[in-house]
This record gives sequence, C-alpha cells and structure tokens, in this order.
Amino acid sequence: MAALSVNHLLGIKNLNTEDIELIFKTADQFKDVLNRPIKKVPSLRDITIANLFFENSTRTRISFELAEKRLSADTINFSASTSSTKKGETLIDTVNNILAMKVDMVVMRHASPGACVFLARHINAQIINAGDGTHEHPTQALLDAFSMREKLKLTDFKGLRVAILGDITHSRVALSNIFCLTKLGAEVLLCGPPTLIPKHIEALGVRVTHNVKEALNWCDVANVLRIQLERQDIKYFPSLREYSLYYGVNKELLDSLSKKITIMHPGPINRGVELSSDAADSDQSIILQQVENGVAIRMAVLYLLAEQNKRG
Ligand code: CP
Repeated sequence: MAALSVNHLLGIKNLNTEDIELIFKTADQFKDVLNRPIKKVPSLRDITIANLFFENSTRTRISFELAEKRLSADTINFSASTSSTKKGETLIDTVNNILAMKVDMVVMRHASPGACVFLARHINAQIINAGDGTHEHPTQALLDAFSMREKLKLTDFKGLRVAILGDITHSRVALSNIFCLTKLGAEVLLCGPPTLIPKHIEALGVRVTHNVKEALNWCDVANVLRIQLERQDIKYFPSLREYSLYYGVNKELLDSLSKKITIMHPGPINRGVELSSDAADSDQSIILQQVENGVAIRMAVLYLLAEQNKRG
C-alpha cells in the first residue's frame, strides 16, 4: 500500500506531490464513508489524540475532533485559556505531561511560527500542524485544493488558474496554498495592497497584481482571505472601508467578469470587508463545501499518519 513520505504533518512544504495525491484519494474514500448512514469506521480504535489549541478556532478544531471521532480514536481537548500555561508552564512541559497519559498524536494550533517543528524535534509523538502563526496551515490548503478538484472535476491541476486575494503577508493559509497549488501544477496569482504582499514572493513561483478585477478576470478560482487585524501591529491600509472599496469582492464585480469563477474563503469571513454577503452566499461560492471537505481531508491525514507510524 502507498504511504506518506513524512511522519508528521508540519507543513505542505515537507510534502511531495505523491503525498498530496495519496491524501486526496484517501479523502475520497472517507467522503464516501461520511455520506453513509453510519459515518464511523474503526481505523483509529487504539489511538489517542490530543487537540492542543493555543489560539482560537472554530472550523479547524471542530473538524479535527469530528474526524477523530469518525475514525473511532480517543480524543482529549486542551484549551490554552483554561490551562496551566497561564501559570508559566512551558510548551514542552505541557505537552510532555499530556503525553505521559499515553497520547499517540498531537494536533496543535499555536501563535508562534515553527512551534510544531519545535515540538516534533523534542516530543515523542506524531505532530499535526493546525496552524502556526503566519507560517503554515497545511490541512486548510489540502481541503482547499481538494474542494477545487471536486468542484471543477479536475483530473489534474495543470493549467488551473487560482487567484489568492487579500492579506498575504499575515496569512498561513496563503503560504500553504501557494506550496500546495504550485506542487500540483496550478498557476497562482496573488492580489492585495502592496503593503500586504511580501517582497520577492515571486521566488515561490507565483505572480503578483494589485488590481482585483484583473485577478478575477484571469482566474478560474478566487480564494479570498481575511484581513488578519490581530496580527497587524501597524496600519497597512487607511481604513477597512477603503480596503473594501479597492480590494473587496462583491456580486456586482463577479457579474461584470467575462466568465463565472468559483469563490472560496477559509473562514472566518469579515462580511462586507474582503467579501460581501451576496458574493459569499452566491451559487459561485463553495465556502461550506470547503468546511464539509475538511473532515474527510483530516480523516485522511490522521489515518495515513497512523499507518506510517505502524510501519515504524
Ligand atoms: N480556516 C480556519 O482555520 O478557521 P478557524 O480559525 O475557525 O479554525
């Protein structure tokens, strides 16, 4: 049976194209399971997973927990706001104490870029990155690409044009999407204010524009990202109103394009800022399909990593 080339999921940067395709094929099978009346399989019956969320989350946290339950794993949930980290305990001490209770895998979201890489070097458990600061959010990129593949009935990604719009500088979703889509052969165009697009990002094999209409006219899929105000300690643009005026996507803009494109957003949406409600809720939007696919993708990642561990 095919296997992943990695023992942890720390970022898309560490995966090869075969890994990504294996995750998609496995997710296809789990999606079939999720559409059955009995949505549960015994695959991870002997596995215990700790979900450690040091940053807020709705979708990722619930999606991982549901994926683990669908695979029959035992789960424990840790929230930083109610834990002893508030009393000064280090990350390694916190995780080692949890592992002492015989935990096999750790799913972690943390505000510090590289926190999962650090943990994987110091902890004897498999680590899955559920978002580390402005660095990577690998399962989001996998579910995004899986949703494009499903919506557009793609057999491969070659020639697919994806525009990623918004706050690229502070977005882990943007970086993981760039790695994932370029590995799969898609073309990627980034669009946003010059202050929110990192200098020299073209070195990752993407193009840049600051004109939203040009980006939307070019692409097949637009992945619209949130302005990450919580990560911005200086002002990168004059006001949200101005941002919305120049970089916001709305239905009127979509209707003015020469073709019907697909709209995606990883959530949470700032309605009326980067995306209007009439665009977010339109028949061009696959935002809720992304959320649905997140469970199958996370089941695939958990299952394949557990198989990898069995191989030693
Ligand atoms: N897409 C995403 O990571 O959403 P949450 O922050 O709600 O998990």
